[in-house]
Amino acid sequence: MTEETKTFAQRLKEENRTTHDSVDNLVMSVEPFSNNENYTKFLKLQSVFHKIVDSIYKDEALNKAIPQLAYMARHDAVVQDLKDLGSEPYQFSGELPHPTGNKAIGWLYCAEGSNLGAAFLFKDAKKLNFNEENGARHLAPHPDGRGQHWREFVGYLNQLGLDKAAQDEAIEGAKEAFAFYKVILREIFGLPEGAEAPAA
Ligand code: HEM
Repeated sequence: MTEETKTFAQRLKEENRTTHDSVDNLVMSVEPFSNNENYTKFLKLQSVFHKIVDSIYKDEALNKAIPQLAYMARHDAVVQDLKDLGSEPYQFSGELPHPTGNKAIGWLYCAEGSNLGAAFLFKDAKKLNFNEENGARHLAPHPDGRGQHWREFVGYLNQLGLDKAAQDEAIEGAKEAFAFYKVILREIFGLPEGAEAPAA
């Protein structure tokens, strides 16, 4: 398939694959599901990330293009998960990014896609006895099912009608989102600046 025939969503997936996998590896390297203490840190990480994207989910124009988008926001659910564990959202040390325009669409892709892979994380959280009603609300599947919901979401992304330059900006936004996720993770789990997952 040539660059021109790829859909926006295909480009997002392909051009973020390596970055995604490095985030996946970094998350697993800090063993977020080995005990409640680590799981609380993971929830704190999620609380900062979902706080950044919350206003994107609630953006009026985007809600016209992507039905029910506001209801997909998971910041409130993460805050509730933290409460379930007797904890609270993390206050990040620096200023949080405020993505706008096409870059915000990339951040949104990153956040919504994380719920697709969250099937695995949800299973791990269940082993710690958390579930959709206690401590792992924000990892629960969409009522339509993760796969079905993702296919619909991706369809809306493709219908946004972004040209190549706009798509490039969104892809850049997604890369920034993944990169910032790592920054928050390192701060909360006490890893040195720039740390990546150790080679397997
Ligand atoms: C240990 C942590 C993680 C694991 C094991 C994991 C695993 C996965 C898996 C298996 C998929 C593909 C699911 C499918 O195609 O059915 C996926 C997709 C995705 N994940 Fe993750 N993930 C992790 C963390 C994250 C994080 C932290 C983010 C965002 C900050 C993220 C963003 C995404 C996105 C955007 C997709 C959609 C890719 C696409 O189809 O375009 N993931 N993940």
